[in-house]
Amino acid sequence: MPLSTQPYKGARDFYPDDKRLQKYLFSQMRDTAEKFGYSEYDAPILEPLELYLAKTSEEIVNEQTYSFTDRGGRNITLRPEMTPTVSRMVAARRQELNYPLRLYSIPNLWRYERPQRGRLREHWQLNVDIFGVEGIEADHEIILVADTLMKSFGAKSGMYVVRINSRKLMNMLLHEYLDLDETQTSALIRLIDRMHKIPEAEFFSQADMLLAPAQRESGLGGKIATLLGTKSISDLPPEIRSHQSVLSIQHLLMVLQESGVKNAVFDLTLMRGFDYYTDIVFEVFDTHEENNRSLFGGGRYDGLVAQFGVEPVPTVGFGAGDVTLLNFLQTHQLLPELPPETDATVLLIGDVYHTVQPILARLRSEGVRLAVDSSGRKLPAQLKSAVKSGVRYVLFLGEQEISRERFKVKDLLTGKEEEHGLERTVAILAAQHHSDDELA
Ligand code: HAM
Repeated sequence: MPLSTQPYKGARDFYPDDKRLQKYLFSQMRDTAEKFGYSEYDAPILEPLELYLAKTSEEIVNEQTYSFTDRGGRNITLRPEMTPTVSRMVAARRQELNYPLRLYSIPNLWRYERPQRGRLREHWQLNVDIFGVEGIEADHEIILVADTLMKSFGAKSGMYVVRINSRKLMNMLLHEYLDLDETQTSALIRLIDRMHKIPEAEFFSQADMLLAPAQRESGLGGKIATLLGTKSISDLPPEIRSHQSVLSIQHLLMVLQESGVKNAVFDLTLMRGFDYYTDIVFEVFDTHEENNRSLFGGGRYDGLVAQFGVEPVPTVGFGAGDVTLLNFLQTHQLLPELPPETDATVLLIGDVYHTVQPILARLRSEGVRLAVDSSGRKLPAQLKSAVKSGVRYVLFLGEQEISRERFKVKDLLTGKEEEHGLERTVAILAAQHHSDDELA
């Protein structure tokens, strides 16, 4: 049996067309994060397993980590998310770092999931996190970065919605308002997290099973159903509406509205599956019926840095994955045509490969990106390959062109063929290059 040419299940090969798309996504991500003053960092893809044991998502640790023992007997895992890593890095230099600290990264992450649309076993995830701001200003900025990223791709408000909830509010509702114990609370949180993925009847029967007989008899099941049916803040029971967490959500929605984020809504059923969130949580959701899924997610996690034995640092951040973002852009037809990285292919007339080298070097030193067809084939075959490659220009070079310093430049887009001196040739080809830069 020959070896398989397929990549590992749920993971992707990136041929140049795929990589070009990814480069486009990443450049928008970098530009957006840097517009808000965030600096890029990175870290190893391997982390000790214990980093995730203390506080992440039970589902990720128990079912989704790629863990193994290294040759020195250490328990290692391919990182499933970046939040514990960035918290570790901040804790390591807690004293020296300058706050507010704004960090971003685009790591490759690994989770052992059942591959399906929008879910793979590896994905790249933009992480944007701000450290050292206690107030709602940080939550506002992080959501604004996520929204600006969406708009940088040409997304309009109607195409997505920003759902906002608060862990503080949920804790208060589950513990105090519904009077559930610890075990019931965490089970219900996990259940609500899956609420939109299972049939409604199944959800409520599972919720009912969490209750003690006395709670059932007192009508607690109905109270939970009413609460989860809440569509806006004004639907909340009056005694809840004045709770600090509700006022925070209200304030956040107002400042977002003022900053042009018109599609942010309160959603009591938004849980986010991680244990480390402490207050506001949010998700950016695609509204298209064919791609009805979460695109980005994040929130405030004030306790994670302190897990490393240092003073706590208030933190807010989010993660935006490349797979879901690509699905979104494809569904809404927002992907631009991306030209190849090469400005021109040089077609050789005759046996001039060595003779043309000085002129190619000059063109390249002027910033033109050139591929030379060194196959020795006849001109029509060379031209056919150039057309197939998607390059915009071809440049014909033979003995005559070199001795006269006149170059035949063919624009494959318009079919126009012109002869120019060196300077003009550079100007035409490099202009193509610069227009790519602007697009990227
Ligand atoms: P998360 O919700 O697990 O959050 O992931 C954030 C985003 O990463 C998702 O909305 C999705 O776009 C993408 N994503 C996650 N898993 C997969 C997968 N298996 N396949 C494709 N895409 C995926 C976190 O990871 C948090 N650590 C984010 C965060 C940063 N919170 C604060 N700072």
